Amino acid sequence: MKFIHLTDTHLVAGGGDLYGSNPKKRLQQAVTHFMAHQPDAEALVITGDLTHYGQADAYAQLREVLSSVDKPIYLIPGNHDHRDTLKEYFPSIECDGNGFVQYTKEFGDYLAIFLDTNEPGVSWGTFCGTRGAWLREQLEASTKPVMLFMHHPFFPIGIHSMDAISLRETTAFRVAIAGFEPRIRQVFFGHIHRPITGSYQGMPFFTLKGTNHQVALELHADADEGIPGRQEAPQYAIVQLSAEQILIHIEDFLEDSPRFTLKG
Ligand SMILES: [Fe+2]
Repeated sequence: MKFIHLTDTHLVAGGGDLYGSNPKKRLQQAVTHFMAHQPDAEALVITGDLTHYGQADAYAQLREVLSSVDKPIYLIPGNHDHRDTLKEYFPSIECDGNGFVQYTKEFGDYLAIFLDTNEPGVSWGTFCGTRGAWLREQLEASTKPVMLFMHHPFFPIGIHSMDAISLRETTAFRVAIAGFEPRIRQVFFGHIHRPITGSYQGMPFFTLKGTNHQVALELHADADEGIPGRQEAPQYAIVQLSAEQILIHIEDFLEDSPRFTLKG
């Protein structure tokens, strides 16, 4: 199975600009690009911050752009999103029994688990015992290898201003996955607006740049200096799954430098 992962689309009402670029146009460019270049992708995943201010019309704009995608679309909220407005504009989005946007899908040989780390009114993420109990139920009910999709990472990524707003109070999350770590073959997240990969306690993780604006690579600044923004080129990822491998390529979809043939 092949799917497309993109994140942090940050659409605003009226299809307006944000930080010097246009998030609606950027998302449309990403969609046009992967539809042309990866026509065999079977799904699209967007790991949160779908909108910047959680406005109703921003979700309407998002729905308009995504209407041209001819494959299933799996969304989760980020800290910039408004959970109820998201559900209103995407009424088919699945929820757990407690109103959180959490659900599972079969992705090839894997169980894809989509998690909701949104906490209304704050930038950091939360994962309460209620959400944790649901996650543990899903892990216990399956024997498949697992991929987790969530907006906030549950471990530090080294950019202090972003680590200050990652998942807080991780106890419920850690309790939920305790013992299942070897089955968690990949954690996909958003929030950081940078390409980062590695592993945490043996669990491989991956995130990438957003489609509109980025966080500058600044590993030494203090958290109280604010989040360093930057207009770097946007990305989406192409994820190919087999029983043996999770293979992730990153596409800089606005890259237009000339191609040539390398010799000898
Ligand atoms: Fe974001």
